[in-house]
Amino acid sequence: MRLDVVTIFPEYLEPLNVSLVGKARARGQLDVHVHDLRQWTYDRHNTVDDTPYGGGPGMVMKTEPWGDCLDELLADGYEAGVGAPALVVPTPSGRPFTQELAVELSERPWLVFTPARYEGIDRRVMDEYATRMPVYEVSIGDYVLAGGEAAVLVITEAVARLLPGVLGNAESHRDDSFAPGAMANLLEGPVYTKPPEWRGHGIPDVLLSGHHGKIARWRRDEALRRTTANRPDLIERCDAAVFDKKDREMLSILGWEPEPGGRFWRKREAVEE
Ligand code: ADE
Repeated sequence: MRLDVVTIFPEYLEPLNVSLVGKARARGQLDVHVHDLRQWTYDRHNTVDDTPYGGGPGMVMKTEPWGDCLDELLADGYEAGVGAPALVVPTPSGRPFTQELAVELSERPWLVFTPARYEGIDRRVMDEYATRMPVYEVSIGDYVLAGGEAAVLVITEAVARLLPGVLGNAESHRDDSFAPGAMANLLEGPVYTKPPEWRGHGIPDVLLSGHHGKIARWRRDEALRRTTANRPDLIERCDAAVFDKKDREMLSILGWEPEPGGRFWRKREAVEE
C-alpha cells in the first residue's frame, strides 16, 4: 500500500518510522511519502493560509498549495502505476473513524492524507478532488485537535495492522473489539500473564484450569461486563439474536432485559463487579 501525507509539520509524522508501521515500511509492505506543503508556496513567507471569506476567527488553508502539491504527487503515483487513490481528510467534522472504516481503507492500494491546521482547508480543494477519487472526511473522536497530523498517525496505525503479513499472527485481528462481523461488538475483557501472583493479586482460577470451553465462557462474560460498564450503547445496538443462553444469563445479572423489539435495555444501574 502507498501512503502520501501532505503537512506543514513533516516532523510530526516521524512516528511512522517506528514500531509496526516502521517495520511494515522496512519490509516494503507500506510505501510512505511525507511531503512539506510549503514546498508548493511561491511567496517569500511560504504562505499556506488566509482569512476566511465571510469573516470570523482563525485562518483557512489556501487552495493553490494543496492543489499544486496534490496534482504533483498524484501524477507521480499514477506514473508508478500504484492504483486508484483515495483522499483522506482528517477533520472534526468528518464521519467517525471506526474499525469498519479502517478495514475499508486497508483494502485500497493508495491513501493520500491531507491533515490541516487552522480552521481547515478551503472547501473547493475537497470538491475538486472528489470529482476524480473517493474523498473520506474522517474524525477520530468528539474533540478538537490543533491539527490533523495526530489523526493521520491513528488512522495509519489502525489500517497498517490490517494489511496482509503486517501482524505476526494472521488470526489476531479477527477477535479485535469492534471487528466488523464479530458475533457482537463487545469490548475485550482483561488479560493476564506470568507471574501467577503479583503484589498479592492473583489471576482468575479458570485461566489455569486448562478447560477451553470454560475459559471461552469466562472471557465472554468479562467482555459483557466490561462493555456494560464502558460502552452500554454497544449492547443496546446489538440484535439480541447474537446472544446465546449463557450470554442472556450474564446480561440479566448485569441488569439487562430483553425487549420485544429484539434488543436489550437496562432499566437499573448494573451490578458491575
Ligand atoms: N483535526 C482536529 N480535530 C480532529 C479530529 N477530532 N479528528 C480528525 N481530525 C481532526
